Amino acid sequence: MIDVLNGKTMSPPPLWLMRQAGRYLPEYRQTREKAGGFLNLCYTPELATEVTLQPIRRYGFDAAILFSDILVIPDALKRNVRFEEGHGPRLDPIDVTAIRALKPDHVSSHLKPVMETVTRLRASLPEETTLLGFCGAPWTVATYMIAGQGTPDQAPARLFGYRETAAFTYLLDFLADVSADYLVEQIDAGADAVQIFDSWAGVLGEREFADYAVRPVRRMVDSVRARRPGAKIIAFAKGAGLRLKTYRRDTDTDAIGLDWSVPLSFAAELQKDGPVQGNLDPMRVVAGGAALDEGVDAILQALGNGPLIFNLGHGITPQADPDHVTRLVKRVRGEAL
Ligand code: CP3
Repeated sequence: MIDVLNGKTMSPPPLWLMRQAGRYLPEYRQTREKAGGFLNLCYTPELATEVTLQPIRRYGFDAAILFSDILVIPDALKRNVRFEEGHGPRLDPIDVTAIRALKPDHVSSHLKPVMETVTRLRASLPEETTLLGFCGAPWTVATYMIAGQGTPDQAPARLFGYRETAAFTYLLDFLADVSADYLVEQIDAGADAVQIFDSWAGVLGEREFADYAVRPVRRMVDSVRARRPGAKIIAFAKGAGLRLKTYRRDTDTDAIGLDWSVPLSFAAELQKDGPVQGNLDPMRVVAGGAALDEGVDAILQALGNGPLIFNLGHGITPQADPDHVTRLVKRVRGEAL
């Protein structure tokens, strides 16, 4: 995968899946049960290491992604993050006063267990398996901090951006700086590359995309590269559409993630500028059979002759059948079922 991030074409392409450690795996559900709360799982190095390794053992993916969550940053900022069964994440909604009072002082010590997980992972993974660290992009993390929960189109954060532009910009810059430090620590602990998840980039208007999605990610990338010049960085701006044309250049990232709505002809254009990652519809993995095979083949045909990291267009869902993932892996690698 690092070769591809350096611009090389590999056949078959390296392969991993967003959310590859998760509820579709029975062994994950078992460890999750043992951990009690979800955040407890993220902060217990022994268990977080175990769930990170589960999909590697089962499928032999080319990259392992650190098991954690993008919301450990607001948790470290004392925003009272909870994961309630069946509800997704809940936080205390933040206001202007609380934004101005945010302090980065305890973030690094709070996230020490995550660094311990990264160190353990690098020591236990096969040498050829890439270890991916990650964090959320400032915009996506901010949407949860403002609304206090997930929402269908992040209307609360978009509205806050119009009404309280100065405080919102301050929040994004603050998150960019804290997250850049967090990525540097992950790299120092053993991460070979990092991914920035901007899962909600697609709900932003033209100007807001530039101000809230692109600019803070660039600030993070510049901050990481100033300290770790060789850092390999992937950026995934879900729903960015046509704006992907300049996203790689504007964020100065090595590879860009593509969601399943990106036409393969456009993806091939983007690949002329550098590596792309994606973009199978996670529902094809749920469907299995011909729907899965056709989706895999179309991506390999359109993008297999350039630098490609095979992945889904967003996270694998809990309903996915683990045997369908076996089928996907074999199909990508050209192995018989
Ligand atoms: O395997 C991996 O990809 C590594 C772990 C990982 C998780 N979350 C574990 C998780 C990663 C990279 C994330 C990123 C993340 N978390 C994002 C960005 C990527 C995306 O999917 O858009 C976002 C927006 C979050 C915030 C978040 N965490 C939500 C909205 C939820 C609830 C929805 C859900 O899927 O349950 C979570 C919880 C979460 N994070 C789970 C996992 C495995 C499920 C919780 C459980 O096990 O009960």
